[in-house]
Amino acid sequence: MDLQLTGKTAVVTGASRGIGLAIAEYLTSEGMRVLGTARTVTPQLAALGGPAFSVDLSRPDGGKRLVSHALEELGGIDVLINNVGGGVEGVDLAEGFLSLDDATWQRSLDINLLSAVRVTRAALPSIIERRGAIVNISSIGARASYHPVDYGVAKAGLTNLSKALSEEFGPRGVRVNTVTPGPTLTQNWKDPEGYAGDLAKAAGLGYDEFMARLPATMGISTGRLAEPAEVAALVAFLASPLAGSITGADYRVDGGVLKAV
Ligand SMILES: NC(=O)c1ccc[n+]([C@@H]2O[C@H](COP(=O)([O-])OP(=O)(O)OC[C@H]3O[C@@H](n4cnc5c(N)ncnc54)[C@H](OP(=O)(O)O)[C@@H]3O)[C@@H](O)[C@H]2O)c1
Repeated sequence: MDLQLTGKTAVVTGASRGIGLAIAEYLTSEGMRVLGTARTVTPQLAALGGPAFSVDLSRPDGGKRLVSHALEELGGIDVLINNVGGGVEGVDLAEGFLSLDDATWQRSLDINLLSAVRVTRAALPSIIERRGAIVNISSIGARASYHPVDYGVAKAGLTNLSKALSEEFGPRGVRVNTVTPGPTLTQNWKDPEGYAGDLAKAAGLGYDEFMARLPATMGISTGRLAEPAEVAALVAFLASPLAGSITGADYRVDGGVLKAV
């Protein structure tokens, strides 16, 4: 299927690995000029051949710096993918809400919500001019209660932001949608010392046993975690003019984890 994206431009945040890298790869393979960004420009991101930019999007000036660089490199932005996000390091998952101080809440809101606010605010004039599209990467944590709570709350804000933007800017030709992944096989789940390892410890299990049990524990109907490329395929479709009447929507790629209709 030709997604009619050839020759258009995209900015993808959190593009050095995981879901963001898969999105940048997919959009590049569709003939787009993709500027991928993260704090680290990994060899995998550099190998895509597009312009890459290193910036810390948890900082208040990160969004402006990214977009002014992107406009210089690309000449304008057709598609923005706000993918950057994740848990704050050092949070004790077993402790839950009581382990979260103000500084942790602020860091979580900065990277999971305010990064998208700031990048979008800076990019919108160009996206409006080009009648482009935005896709925000949220999480099942926005729709159900999982630890850590700060992450879910920030992602719920992001999902709400997408809807608000779709209403305000729809009449000016901009579409805004949300993609809501469930457990997806990125470093967070692959690294025994990372998020999955912390969850395993909180559950009193070894990493291997925890991962083997995960589909059943979480109720993943497909019996496995999603692949980053599966998330990327949906994002690319939503970015495409073929999805011209889809806006303000929130699509799950969660293998059936969320049970509510
Ligand atoms: N994987 C899942 O199971 C899952 C489930 C639901 C939702 N999601 C969401 O999907 C998105 C991608 O998840 P993922 O698992 O692919 O994440 P990941 O593997 O941890 O990658 C995160 C990306 O964001 C970049 N990043 C992190 N902090 C940054 C900062 N301060 N400034 C700029 N870039 C930063 C990282 O690069 P640097 O470290 O080099 O900066 C990396 O490129 C996130 O929003 C996440 O919340 C993931």
